[in-house]
Amino acid sequence: MQDKNVLYYGDNLEVLRLHIKDASVDLIYLDPPFKSNQDYNVLFAERNGTRSKAQVKAFKDTWTWDMEAAEAYEDVVERGGKVSEAMQGFRKLIGDSDMLAYLSMMAPRLIELHRVLKPTGSIYLHCDSTAGAYLRLLMDAVFGAENFRNEAIWHYKRWPAGKHQFQRMHDVLLFYSNRHGKNTFNVLLEPLTKGTLKRWRGQKSRVEFKNGMRQVTKITKEVSKGAPMDDVWDIPVINSQAKERLGYPTQKPEALLERIIKASSNEGDIVLDPFCGCGTTVAVAQRLNRRWIGIDITHLAVTLMKYRLEHTFGDEIRSEYDVIGEPVSLSGAMQLAKENPYQFQWWALGLLGARPVEEKKGADKGIDGRLYFHDEAKGGETKQIIFSVKSGHVTSSVMRDLRGVIEREGAEIGVLITMLDPTKDMRKEAAGAGFYESATWQNRYLRMQILTIEDILRGKGVDCPPLGRTNVTFTRAAKAKKSDDGTNDLFE
Ligand SMILES: C[S@@+](CC[C@H](N)C(=O)[O-])C[C@H]1O[C@@H](n2cnc3c(N)ncnc32)[C@H](O)[C@@H]1O
Repeated sequence: MQDKNVLYYGDNLEVLRLHIKDASVDLIYLDPPFKSNQDYNVLFAERNGTRSKAQVKAFKDTWTWDMEAAEAYEDVVERGGKVSEAMQGFRKLIGDSDMLAYLSMMAPRLIELHRVLKPTGSIYLHCDSTAGAYLRLLMDAVFGAENFRNEAIWHYKRWPAGKHQFQRMHDVLLFYSNRHGKNTFNVLLEPLTKGTLKRWRGQKSRVEFKNGMRQVTKITKEVSKGAPMDDVWDIPVINSQAKERLGYPTQKPEALLERIIKASSNEGDIVLDPFCGCGTTVAVAQRLNRRWIGIDITHLAVTLMKYRLEHTFGDEIRSEYDVIGEPVSLSGAMQLAKENPYQFQWWALGLLGARPVEEKKGADKGIDGRLYFHDEAKGGETKQIIFSVKSGHVTSSVMRDLRGVIEREGAEIGVLITMLDPTKDMRKEAAGAGFYESATWQNRYLRMQILTIEDILRGKGVDCPPLGRTNVTFTRAAKAKKSDDGTNDLFE
């Protein structure tokens, strides 16, 4: 039995294979990239609430048929069985296409998800019409057509697009159980329609059929509590004005996850989201007293999830979950920088509460990350700390560049994050750059600071006015409050 909730950084295929035991999970929700041929960019809220020019590529969802895809395809086909047959069928139908590359990525992951699901478990695969029809067949092959429970439609309204077809305003949730008829399922009720209530009004009883037998049911308040929920769900998308919006592309509404988790799990059950993005599933699972496992392949997502959990449930939440896959030592950080310099930057900046900046042309030249804060009563002017991250050799020219950027940007503080130790000259340069004086805190802070990765791993942060709620870099998730029944509700 899993004691603690876990957030994994890494490729879910590897994490599932290495860390998740057979038949150990009660509910899986997955919202993989949709094959929509669009690179998603994270748009962070700018300091004045408008969109930032600084866009950071969170993940790609373009797929091409290349060597890697061909290898993934061969791997699945060589295993034999229904999935192999389905993949070979797809190849006949759609050839060595980008769609086949996408399905070759999904197939081994679905096989692993089937392995980790308990016999009483359920899985919901979130997709849209782009790959939905193929995924339905692939799910039939992995989970068995007899275990198909629903194709739930999430219907929403958004800005119209496309002239030669009806507006596409729905996503699809493919819901499968692991063993036919054995899955946990709590019937959810939805309010009766006005028409039904009107028809019932004035009637004292109504005819129903239970287990095939005709029966006359008295109309009481009980009966009118609601009707069993159907498979078309009207839930608003997270639009640019939504309170829930954290600025992560493809963020899903909590109401959607709440429905799935309440229907297909009970308190204490384990909920897994292998493509968890900014953590909608884990936040709702936590609020509904489920245990959870979240996996994502970017440090940006892992950082956002950590903030989301802390903002929603308070600092105490940190002791309730482990983060696995993040560097915990200098050598781990070096390894990450070697494998993926962007991930290294995102990870290091996240530890200091800063957000990454990818576009270094023009306006953002010379800046790797930013942090916005307020240090005056009632908010006042937004102040900023800028960051430069270096994983290789550093000299005092780095400090001179940083000084130039601080001046150009009118920033209060500039921080160099360095993997290797700074030279004496660099420290001298930092010491000579003067101070930022905070009238509110009646304190002064070095305008140029140097933090090594080892410093940060030891818990050292930027020397600046206390951050906490005054760090306005990441959009804050709403705080949860305890409701009367002991579960956590979100403030409206
Ligand atoms: C559509 S988004 C999920 C959004 C999420 N449902 C939410 O509400 O925030 C897909 C996520 O899958 C992650 N991802 C893509 N490939 C992955 C992989 N192989 N392993 C783990 N995560 C992956 C991406 O980084 C991205 O955050």
